[in-house]
Amino acid sequence: DVADSSSIRRLSEWDAAELRTLTEEYGSPLYVLDLERVRQNYRRLVAAFPDADVLYAVKANALGDVLSTLREAGAGLECASAGEVKRALEAGASGSEIHYTAVNPPAGDLDWIVDAWGDHPALTVTAGSADTIDRLADRGYDGRLCLRVNPGIGAGHHEKVRTGAAAKFGVPAERAVDVLEDAADRGFDVVGIHAHVGSGVSSDQLDAHREFVARMGDLARDVAGAVGDLEFVDVGGGFGVPYREDEEPLVLESVADAIRDALGAVDARLTIEPGRYVVADAGVLLTEVNTVKDARETTVVGVDAGMTTLIRPAMYDAYHPIRNLAADAAASSGEGGRETVPQTVAGPICESGDVFCADRELPVSERGDILAIGNAGAYGYEMANQYNSRPRPASVVRGDGDVRLARRRETVADVTRPEREARRISAADR
Ligand code: LLP
Repeated sequence: DVADSSSIRRLSEWDAAELRTLTEEYGSPLYVLDLERVRQNYRRLVAAFPDADVLYAVKANALGDVLSTLREAGAGLECASAGEVKRALEAGASGSEIHYTAVNPPAGDLDWIVDAWGDHPALTVTAGSADTIDRLADRGYDGRLCLRVNPGIGAGHHEKVRTGAAAKFGVPAERAVDVLEDAADRGFDVVGIHAHVGSGVSSDQLDAHREFVARMGDLARDVAGAVGDLEFVDVGGGFGVPYREDEEPLVLESVADAIRDALGAVDARLTIEPGRYVVADAGVLLTEVNTVKDARETTVVGVDAGMTTLIRPAMYDAYHPIRNLAADAAASSGEGGRETVPQTVAGPICESGDVFCADRELPVSERGDILAIGNAGAYGYEMANQYNSRPRPASVVRGDGDVRLARRRETVADVTRPEREARRISAADR
């Protein structure tokens, strides 16, 4: 089923009638995640990289059902925080399947991780600075250690996600050998080197990606010469997926060939840790139209999801495909298609940037229509927040022939709960 599953699931391929039923049952806004598609995407990666370890970057979508689906498919999990490691363990991952990537880690995270390491001694910690290594040593950690390096080359869909060249990440590659020699002398079990070029790397950025991987290959050979053999070289994630209808997907097999070529001969396993690629097209966000108005220069379509539900358009000017499910139903029932006009789809948040698209040609919207926003499976719910005291939406998953609620909708009571609890704590202290 790997060979005959197309490389990308377009928004148009989702069943409009089924999606509309879901909002009737679970309300709006609603994230829908197809676990079968998650599994397929993971299998496609494994098929393209048969000789690599394919971890999943949990930050893209940390829903427990996603993690257990991927775990069952054999994925290891790359975690960015103690919370993500906790989720990985709850999904049944063993220590050897968990890589914790520490970026300026808060003390509480390190305490928690070192504690978890006691029960799961095979977990791997990736440190991005000599200070992090010191702080691990202070807590008695001398387990598996990977060093995150800064290769000085970034790529990705937006300046804000080109991590490879951003100073905050990793030890400058030219200092890596010294730092690792020191760590090995202090008794750490040095197992790998790591870097992440950035996120949303498209086919026209593959040259930069190749150059980045070549540097990792050179560094791996230097480190092996100085410190001894490494178990793995982790070249991060970053594989982009098409968001625009006319964008071509990456050809995974040729990306894999290019990576192997660029890496050259290294006596270590190749590790990759994609996030977006695994979950983006497995998710849609459904949102109900509540307002349609003619503004001076455009038609504004007000919906109940906003930048607090899916922040990518506001934060990165990201394009997400949008489909009007009611218009599609009308078209397919023979009522005829609706005319298309330029529309600005906007949320309920008090910022002018709270729009999902500006002046996009879409079928005329009516109050009560459900819009589906595509490719919402990656960095959608994960980046949702409660700005404007707005509760986060619900998530449902479909898989194994059924659909179920995976995470309930938050309520306003959830939003104010920490304050009520604080009042209770202060009262108890008095
Ligand atoms: N590994 C590390 C160390 C990372 O920092 C990331 C993503 C990944 C792997 C996975 O990258 P992916 O395969 O998903 O591109 N919120 C942004 C994306 C930020 C990605 C940050 N790091 C967005 O919505 O586009």
